[in-house]
Amino acid sequence: MNDWTVTPLAASLGARIDGVRLAETDDAELGALQDLLNEHHVLVVSGQDELSVADHLRVGESFGDLYVHPFIDAIPEHPAILQVIKEPDDTETFGGELWHCDLSFTSPPAAVSILHACELPPIGGDTLFANTALAFDWLSPRLQAWVSELTATHVYPEREEGPSTAATHPVARIHPRSGRRALFVNPAFVTRIVELEREESDTLLSFLYAHQTQPEFQIRIRWEIGQVVLWDNRTTVHYAMNDYPGHRRRLQRVTALERRG
Ligand code: SIN
Repeated sequence: MNDWTVTPLAASLGARIDGVRLAETDDAELGALQDLLNEHHVLVVSGQDELSVADHLRVGESFGDLYVHPFIDAIPEHPAILQVIKEPDDTETFGGELWHCDLSFTSPPAAVSILHACELPPIGGDTLFANTALAFDWLSPRLQAWVSELTATHVYPEREEGPSTAATHPVARIHPRSGRRALFVNPAFVTRIVELEREESDTLLSFLYAHQTQPEFQIRIRWEIGQVVLWDNRTTVHYAMNDYPGHRRRLQRVTALERRG
């Protein structure tokens, strides 16, 4: 850890960590990564070409139990490592061109995702992140108080039945480690705010989606082969750019669920 260099990437969120070899991290270093995530929300670690499936799983498990997705293909070697693939003739991205955090339809929700870049287009395919804790801070005190009393239903699209496909969470959730409140709604999985009428819910959600993704809260990550990006799903939303038709993009992701208690 002493030889790590931490460089903030934007005023809003994100830090680049140099000097880390994720494949060789010990418990103290994994704890330090958790502390850095609490502070910066998104960590970019380049040059991790040697990260094996076992290393990826071990780093992921340090943040919580790994989620095995019931509907999305994993790599053949392990069911908890998802394939994030867009083929040259695919028109949609993995995230479906929606700002989201991963697995908000589970309870407990996702804590941390760790994405490893394997194949990339020559240009494009960047990922945007926005800081939803900062977005909460920028609301007026009255709106902060009101949204803190509300809850929202999150559902995996078109799959209301099945393992872990629906959950209810506070609209502004308290992070269990930092104690900081962050907006916790996204257009990929939220179907409505429970305590409001449909039209009221739609209007408030539209406002919150626009508010939490304004440029001041964002960072844009340009990928390199072998790069790993870790993010906290409880304090960020992300959006994968769909701007590289005719090229393949393949990354591998593990997502750890929040620990209870
Ligand atoms: C994801 O939504 O987890 C994938 C993000 C990306 O493809 O950049």
